[in-house]
Amino acid sequence: MGAKKEKIGIIGGGLMGAGIAQIFAGHGHSVKIFEPFEAGRAGIFDRITDNLETMGQNEAQIKDCLSHISLTETQLDAVHDADFVTEAAPEKLELKRSIFTDLVAQVPAHCILASNTSVMPITGIADGIDSNQRIVGTHWWNPPFLIPLVEVVQARDTSDATVDATMDILSRIGKVPARCKKDTPGFIANRLQHALWRESIAMVAEGICDAETLDTCVKNSFGLRLPQLGPLENADLVGLPLTLDIHKTMIPQLNLHDRPHEFLEAKIQDGDLGFATKKGFRNWTDDEIDSVRKNLLEYLMRMQNQRSQQ
Ligand SMILES: NC(=O)c1ccc[n+]([C@@H]2O[C@H](COP(=O)([O-])OP(=O)(O)OC[C@H]3O[C@@H](n4cnc5c(N)ncnc54)[C@H](O)[C@@H]3O)[C@@H](O)[C@H]2O)c1
Repeated sequence: MGAKKEKIGIIGGGLMGAGIAQIFAGHGHSVKIFEPFEAGRAGIFDRITDNLETMGQNEAQIKDCLSHISLTETQLDAVHDADFVTEAAPEKLELKRSIFTDLVAQVPAHCILASNTSVMPITGIADGIDSNQRIVGTHWWNPPFLIPLVEVVQARDTSDATVDATMDILSRIGKVPARCKKDTPGFIANRLQHALWRESIAMVAEGICDAETLDTCVKNSFGLRLPQLGPLENADLVGLPLTLDIHKTMIPQLNLHDRPHEFLEAKIQDGDLGFATKKGFRNWTDDEIDSVRKNLLEYLMRMQNQRSQQ
């Protein structure tokens, strides 16, 4: 644990805000969460307690973590003395712009302001706002207490010093920060993920295989290697000449849709929404839905435990 302790402000105490607060507090930082709705504030400590119990923490550890967190009814109370603020409010551009416009006037001059937007370019959020060289993207993944990556997104006006300090604080709370040097929608990991999803949907639409077979192929082949071997490490491992030969045959075959696939749109038109309706690309029973969620959580926990033992 890093010795330096910052004052952290969190804007929005929902799924992500509470989980992000938990990580900062778990590393001894003092955290204030602004959540405008009483019903929202009422559930925050219970949700963090549940997360910590899931992670196997004991009563004393949970008490210690919660002791670093307080809730506020105004944004100003959460941020007036903050060193680092993370905005985790709903994914609406105008709302985020208004929050950041208020924040720059409310925080100390040295305070860094981070947005946890899922995909929106940070430049659009920060455009025209005063002193926006200290506005940066920090894209945490869900669940924030089990997924290590946080993409640190440098917008058009974000200073190098802001990015460096953000990388530093995220490292000190045990995250794996990754610098995204261009403010592109989806940043790095979601762009990769959705390239795979586009190809997957196209293959099922073309009748190459069904959805279950596609997932079986991923989970039992390159998916197994991915935690140890990224795609470009893999290319270096097999060698670039082989990579080029493979690409000469493969690249012309890949799907080139420049908008969402009509197969996906038709499913939604038919009311097939996924787990919510028990039918999406596949049919699901309640038991299967429960096991997917349970198995994922258990797997992420095992990975987290492995990392903490290394
Ligand atoms: N859920 C995910 O998997 C995920 C992953 C990465 C990033 N994100 C992003 O994180 C952000 C928050 O997502 P979430 O899933 O936690 O949403 P959420 O709906 O669970 O939480 C948002 C919270 O913000 C509060 N809020 C509403 N108006 C506000 C305001 N004016 N000021 C402050 N707070 C306000 C809401 O009451 C709610 O508690 C979004 O930008 C989202 O796109 C979500």
